[in-house]
Amino acid sequence: MTLTQEKTLAAQVRPDFPILHQQVNGKPLVYLDNAATSQKPLVVLDALRDYYERDNANVHRGVHTLSSRATDAYEGARDKIAKFVNAASRQEIVFTRNASEAINLVAYAWGSTLKQGDEIILSVMEHHSNLIPWQMVAQRTGAVLKFVEPNANEEFNLEQYKALISNKTRLVSILHVSNTLGYINPVAEITAIAHHYGARVLVDACQSVPHMPVDVQAMDCDWLVASGHKMCGPTGVGFLYGKLDLLRSMPPFLGGGEMIADVFLDHATYADLPHKFEAGTPAIGEAIALGAAVDYLSSLGMDKIHAYEEQLTAYLFQQLQQIPELRIYGPRPTLEGKGRAALAAFTAGEVHPHDLSTILDEAGVAIRAGHHCTQPLHRYLKVQSTARASLYFYNTQAEIDVFIAALREAVDFFASIFG
Ligand SMILES: Cc1ncc(COP(=O)(O)O)c(C=O)c1O
Repeated sequence: MTLTQEKTLAAQVRPDFPILHQQVNGKPLVYLDNAATSQKPLVVLDALRDYYERDNANVHRGVHTLSSRATDAYEGARDKIAKFVNAASRQEIVFTRNASEAINLVAYAWGSTLKQGDEIILSVMEHHSNLIPWQMVAQRTGAVLKFVEPNANEEFNLEQYKALISNKTRLVSILHVSNTLGYINPVAEITAIAHHYGARVLVDACQSVPHMPVDVQAMDCDWLVASGHKMCGPTGVGFLYGKLDLLRSMPPFLGGGEMIADVFLDHATYADLPHKFEAGTPAIGEAIALGAAVDYLSSLGMDKIHAYEEQLTAYLFQQLQQIPELRIYGPRPTLEGKGRAALAAFTAGEVHPHDLSTILDEAGVAIRAGHHCTQPLHRYLKVQSTARASLYFYNTQAEIDVFIAALREAVDFFASIFG
């Protein structure tokens, strides 16, 4: 099998990523830990550097030239993100430190409206970032958490969800793509059902926004969160999308400079959206560089990125299935690589995933081992940890071959020890 889009995508973009062109432990780096964080193209590194070299000043505070340049670029990045996820208004995009902070913002500001007996539906698949904030809300308010388990195919169990939801449900907070099972949740359907019961919906899109077209209006979710560092942007910046009226109705999360209109000694009025939720000096350079990342992804085309990743997924699974000792978690993709994200979490019998990862590192291959911040899901799957290879559009078929050969060797090595 040859990947038809490879020439036009991975080959085209690899020169843009300097970090990929290095040796690790004497071998060419094969970076397959993209679900944890992605690498950054030159245009993003340049945007960060240009900002600090030319435009560094605080935003919204000065009338001098540097300050207005910084403000224009920072607000310009917001416009780009709004367009990227098809928000109806730029005011619906709030910069945060990461997705975790965006969820905490909603949990704090909107979660305080919950009361004893209100119900929140989550899934067992959730990343800790979309679990702990709601545990904290439940402890604070007396709201009750309910969980949708994976079905026999290790997909979101829609039937169980329909059975759990009721007029008591105030919130459904759900990931779009599982960072462990690779499953792509039917979020538009989940949202439509939630809205039928008058519940709000938060979508954790950390693993979808970097990899496929995401349209918040088509999805009709109430909030959506993502992290910049997983989508070719820098660390330290992420965003919250929220429907305008809903964001307007929410009190501020953090207090300080930038988020105010008028301040008196004993009270204050707050700035309009989105600044009401951006207290203090934001990560200006990082937000601008995230705007550059969005430009970069858009110039490649999210449809193209997704289609290429489907081809990589098909090839990855074809190859992994050649190693019978592996247990791969989550649903199988179709032969065309459809139906799941470009990542695979797996175990190899009794071999500890950390040992696998260490041996692969010696071959220059970076994969992740651990619970991937989904401990409850791992507990549900009756496994302590898994190894995970996760791809992005700059990965190639040849890199998958290197990974598979190193994995095969590692599995054989442990089989020779354990017998
Ligand atoms: C599905 C999912 N949600 C949330 C997060 C949290 O992202 P961050 O640590 O950038 O806030 C991650 C990161 O791994 C993730 O994969």
